[in-house]
Amino acid sequence: MAIRKVAVMGHPILRQVAKPIAEADIGKPEIQTLIKDMVATMFEYDGRGLAAPQIHESVQLVVMLWDFEPDTKAQIRVLINPTIENLTEETASCWEGCLSLPGLRGKVTRSTKISVKAWDQTGEKVEFVAEGFAATVVQHECDHLLGKLYVDRIKDLSEFGFSRECTQFLTGGDTVDSE
Ligand code: NI
Repeated sequence: MAIRKVAVMGHPILRQVAKPIAEADIGKPEIQTLIKDMVATMFEYDGRGLAAPQIHESVQLVVMLWDFEPDTKAQIRVLINPTIENLTEETASCWEGCLSLPGLRGKVTRSTKISVKAWDQTGEKVEFVAEGFAATVVQHECDHLLGKLYVDRIKDLSEFGFSRECTQFLTGGDTVDSE
């Protein structure tokens, strides 16, 4: 297990479409080590989620914290080759952050309820519904696998800035991170 260097905006790997992982490869040591490295890196940098391209591995793999209740121990979800489908027309805006854009925040509008299909770290097929903040994180991380960053989705660049100033002037103290 190792803490890996995080690629920041401007590095071309963040703009590539990540390759799917073959189902037969999920149990192999390279992928299992990559998952462990991603979890360690996410915790080290206090992220809520991390996509493999952010540590210079252009494959369709995401790790994220699933349970955001402050008094519960967060669960980790691993998503391999995830696909998402909108379950509602309803959208909500969230002040997002990203380990690849350190120190910045931007207001992004996304679907509030999605269906997610993926493989987990054991090679099991999983399907679940994500709502609210979890839906935001999944969509943010899946964007990384398509070479997209949250800045691409900011409609009004006056709602983009440094974290401290966003908290002080724009969000009314109500920052929400998703990485
Ligand atoms: Ni991110």
